[in-house]
Amino acid sequence: MTDLKWWQTAVFYQIYPRSFADGNGDGIGDFKGIIEKLDYLSDLGIDAVWLSPHFPSPNWDCGYDISDYTNVAPEYGTLEDFKTFLREAHARRIRVILDLVLNHTSDEHPWFLESKSSSDNPKANWYVWADTPPNNWQSCFDGDAWTYAPERNQYYYHYFMKQQPDLNWHNPEVKKAMWDAVRFWLDLGVDGYRLDAIGTIFEDSSLTPHDVPLNLAGVRRLLELAQTPEEKQQAGKYWYAMFKYQWAQPGLHDLMKELRAVIDEYDGDRMLVGEDDDITYMGNGDDELHLVFNFPLMRMGRLIPSLVRLNQKERLARLDALPVNGWPCNTLGNHDYSRIRTNYGDRQHDAELARLHAALMLTLKGTPFLYNGEEIGMTDLIITDPTKLRDTMATWYYDRLVNELNVDPVEAAQRAGEMSRDKNRTPMQWSNNPNGGFSPPNVETWLPVNPNYRDGINVRDQRHNPSSLLNYYKHLLQFRKSSPALIKGEYISLNNTAKDYLAFVRKSEEQTVLVVLNFSEKKLELDFSRTKEIKGCNLQILFSSAERLKTTKRAYGLTISPFEVFIAEVEPKQ
Ligand code: GLC
Repeated sequence: MTDLKWWQTAVFYQIYPRSFADGNGDGIGDFKGIIEKLDYLSDLGIDAVWLSPHFPSPNWDCGYDISDYTNVAPEYGTLEDFKTFLREAHARRIRVILDLVLNHTSDEHPWFLESKSSSDNPKANWYVWADTPPNNWQSCFDGDAWTYAPERNQYYYHYFMKQQPDLNWHNPEVKKAMWDAVRFWLDLGVDGYRLDAIGTIFEDSSLTPHDVPLNLAGVRRLLELAQTPEEKQQAGKYWYAMFKYQWAQPGLHDLMKELRAVIDEYDGDRMLVGEDDDITYMGNGDDELHLVFNFPLMRMGRLIPSLVRLNQKERLARLDALPVNGWPCNTLGNHDYSRIRTNYGDRQHDAELARLHAALMLTLKGTPFLYNGEEIGMTDLIITDPTKLRDTMATWYYDRLVNELNVDPVEAAQRAGEMSRDKNRTPMQWSNNPNGGFSPPNVETWLPVNPNYRDGINVRDQRHNPSSLLNYYKHLLQFRKSSPALIKGEYISLNNTAKDYLAFVRKSEEQTVLVVLNFSEKKLELDFSRTKEIKGCNLQILFSSAERLKTTKRAYGLTISPFEVFIAEVEPKQ
């Protein structure tokens, strides 16, 4: 399997540092905690970590508003702690990529403080300034995108919160400063970056106003209340039209090429993954990003076999069409998105569906990204007390619902809790001790711990239970590592009209495996004896969620249990 790069064979695990492990008992995660859990990660079987921002930040956007790009937030530890973390991770053969927020800084970053201090200081042109708001653009987090700075009697632009002013990427000094920060961590030995919100870096140079007859709160409300497909489509159109001049503007490909050149100054083994689903950011396959996420899969709502098939067909075809073949990258969740068990569950078979979705991630072609806590089946926790919300996007929305749209405060609180990303950022549940073992008892954690840590959704209980989700993940991860077909084999979709299940073959030079994922509560009887890749072969069972014996089966009369994950090697008959 040596012909592939490490980031093609790796399974990534996203650590959200605030919520992963609290080593000093102050209710907030930190490097001490992460270091203590490295053996856990190594035992789980992941190969690389994506660390969400660990930099100093006033935390208006939970770390995505950075006030110093080359340091560590004091609540997480020191630069020395970071170095220890990196060294210890590497010692366990775990690679580490960091989050790189290019579009904006914190409004407390010294660059911005200087820039806003007057209109003729050396950094006056580092952000996007205007004498009066030049258009009706909205920020996707907090209403008007132009905010007044009295110090220079001008307005600055921000795509996100007003505490996150957009950098002016047309200014070569901005690039230089940011590439220096990029090199700072690469020099320390990090293995790459996940690029935050790259689509937002440039704006339409004509500053064309949008033509949506609503503001941000109005469109959000419309999206929320949309019931019929037509209403949903209309609300979606408005969202797109509202931001179309602030997204995916010319200049991005050249910028990604420049960044790639910086990365390639190193040993050729560092990587970039973009928070975007646009495959064109992979450039010619060799000159922009190494990976972009398959977000269309994640955003499907309920995952149904026909849609997954369509998604794969489309994505893989487009990747294969790149001059140098691109590599897929799948994920079903992150710190911005609902938990797998909540999002794709049906409230009746959530446990089974969680296993099925884990298998989907780990058997589709491409690099999987898992989010911390999914391996124990953590669920969303809706916080309905607006004073307890930490996601300022949601507190802003609560305020608008009540004060602009006259929504009843109880309903507004529910809506804000549901849209808030706090629900999927609650502390990792390590045991059934108070606070889920995240922090000592009686310490108030930065977000409440989901009380379901008492019901077996915690690492310690699951570690001791051979049939737990955690052990299932471990087996599947181990199994994936041992299977060349799953790691690099081509994906061949089978039985394309099947409604209840997804069946595909993964085929490499060394191995062919059949994967069947039964998304239904029906028992299936399947026949693959006429399938081209399987004809004349037996099926040697390698992995099953139904705890089957690892026997050899014929390719017909194959019974698959409800929600079963079935993986077998296709072997010529003896
Ligand atoms: C990305 C991050 C999200 C953040 C936003 C602004 O989408 O994933 O958490 O709020 O960018 O930086």
